[in-house]
Amino acid sequence: MFEYPVREELKPSGLDGISDEQIEEHWGLYKGYVAQSNALRKELADLRANGQGGGMGFADRRRRYGFEYNGMVLHEFYFQNLKAGVSCDTSSGFHQAVSEQFGSFDAWKEDFANTGKTRGIGWAIAYFDPLTGQITNNFVQLHEDGNVASFQPLVIMDVWEHAYMRDQNALGRPAYIEAFMKNVNWDVVEQRFQAAKRGEVLKRF
Ligand SMILES: [Fe+2]
Repeated sequence: MFEYPVREELKPSGLDGISDEQIEEHWGLYKGYVAQSNALRKELADLRANGQGGGMGFADRRRRYGFEYNGMVLHEFYFQNLKAGVSCDTSSGFHQAVSEQFGSFDAWKEDFANTGKTRGIGWAIAYFDPLTGQITNNFVQLHEDGNVASFQPLVIMDVWEHAYMRDQNALGRPAYIEAFMKNVNWDVVEQRFQAAKRGEVLKRF
């Protein structure tokens, strides 16, 4: 049976304001989501094979799969869009699109940061809507509640407390968000934006 791999090549280091120790701890949690996603797929397949696919146990595990799977995928997109020292080129498609739609790049950034300050644990995600070409900043609670079907994620920021508790404290979300914004790999964001505009599915492997 196919197993999702841990994407070691995506692990960032040497960030500005987010320590390697913080990333290391967070990476351990990500590996847990990969392991759980694989275990759940096997469990669901076994239940089906045993004729228990219509049972309550199966339904519960199937619901759980959305949590674990999105937990795995969003962490991969998150780690992938972190790198120190990359600036957002004013001539890039993403910069131009958000400047036009939000009035300025800084206005988009402020809205994204405010999205990340939404009370509750989850994710701030700047999505591209392939239907309208608009970019929207959304809050996804936990890992799965608020994902918008068919929207393509461009900038992904984890705002669970585990993303900053090693470096900050329970009140440290604003400081962490400020640090995150200094470490966005805008080259990756631009690649995602161009691929989304071409109608390509975001490739994870
Ligand atoms: Fe996380």
